[in-house]
Amino acid sequence: MKVLITGVAGFIGFSLAHEFLKKNKKFEIYGLDNFDNYYSVNLKKKRISELTKFKKFKFFNLDITNRKKINNFFKKKKFYMIFHFAAQAGVRYTRFYPKKYIFTNIFGLINILDACLQSPPKIFVYASSSSIYGDQKTFPVKESKKHSPKNIYATTKILNESIAEFYSRYFNIKLIGLRFFTVYGEWGRPDMFLLKMLKCFYTKKVFYLNNLGNHLRDFTYIGDVTKIIRRLVTINFRYDKHKIFNLCSSKPISLKTIINFIIKRYGQINIKKIKRDNLDVLKTHGNNSSITQITKYKKFMNIELGIQNTFEWYRKYKIYKY
Ligand SMILES: NC(=O)c1ccc[n+]([C@@H]2O[C@H](COP(=O)([O-])OP(=O)(O)OC[C@H]3O[C@@H](n4cnc5c(N)ncnc54)[C@H](O)[C@@H]3O)[C@@H](O)[C@H]2O)c1
Repeated sequence: MKVLITGVAGFIGFSLAHEFLKKNKKFEIYGLDNFDNYYSVNLKKKRISELTKFKKFKFFNLDITNRKKINNFFKKKKFYMIFHFAAQAGVRYTRFYPKKYIFTNIFGLINILDACLQSPPKIFVYASSSSIYGDQKTFPVKESKKHSPKNIYATTKILNESIAEFYSRYFNIKLIGLRFFTVYGEWGRPDMFLLKMLKCFYTKKVFYLNNLGNHLRDFTYIGDVTKIIRRLVTINFRYDKHKIFNLCSSKPISLKTIINFIIKRYGQINIKKIKRDNLDVLKTHGNNSSITQITKYKKFMNIELGIQNTFEWYRKYKIYKY
């Protein structure tokens, strides 16, 4: 059974590919990525080198915005499932490269959807984001909550959901959108809080802490994310043609609480507190009952253990060098 994962050199795409290769021996994983240079290309290549250890993994260096090449790639391939995780992620980068978000996140999704329509997969899963909720007043937020985007990244994710809705209505394709909430853990993203802080810890550089560390984030461990996705796509649950889920632990925690834990456990970090960035959301806290009921997944990783695992991985692979 052929399974396509776009953005396979990225954090979540890589982690899901790894989980499938270890646990679903029937799956042949086709991984697609263009090694975009938003963050360390060497780290992305290192992730791919981990995946190529498996016989059932094939890598394709392709840009999802290149419609012609994407169409050629899909010719004569029938994918059983497609996971579309390739995207321009990150919030603060929207300030400098707004167009890149439109090209990658909007045209990229349309190209992949159009290309697979000849032979639609059983399930098409795409990545959305908690950022579509923006600043809310009541928590935890349910999937039905009104959108309130604070940046272009969030806007592209809302548009992704609308595009998915149209394709599910007008074409013969079933879609699942996953609104990820601050995913962290081994093989994580160096542009995100935890890995940025680990780098400063190991290189003894100053860590700039936004909003005095008062942001609250619904940190969700990568191991929980990949297990939940595996369950979701391997059980037969009934849904209309398009279903959207929050994917989160539903346990928000402030950045300063995490920092205090790290200092206590591992030692001092040189911190400089800076004011809030107006592109950032103050708090994320999702209601995960919809996805946990369907998958019967209840045992989320304890945050301290998740951080310890990330620390150990970071040290073992000397990620500060990437
Ligand atoms: N990690 C999180 O906490 C989080 C939270 C919310 C939403 N998401 C979403 O989940 C998805 C995966 O996120 P991630 O954390 O793994 O991000 P990531 O940046 O690590 O992975 C994205 C991958 O897409 C690839 N890519 C970018 N442009 C491409 C193009 N034009 N053609 C082909 N490949 C391209 C990149 O090279 C990268 O490897 C993204 O859609 C992201 O917006 C992630």
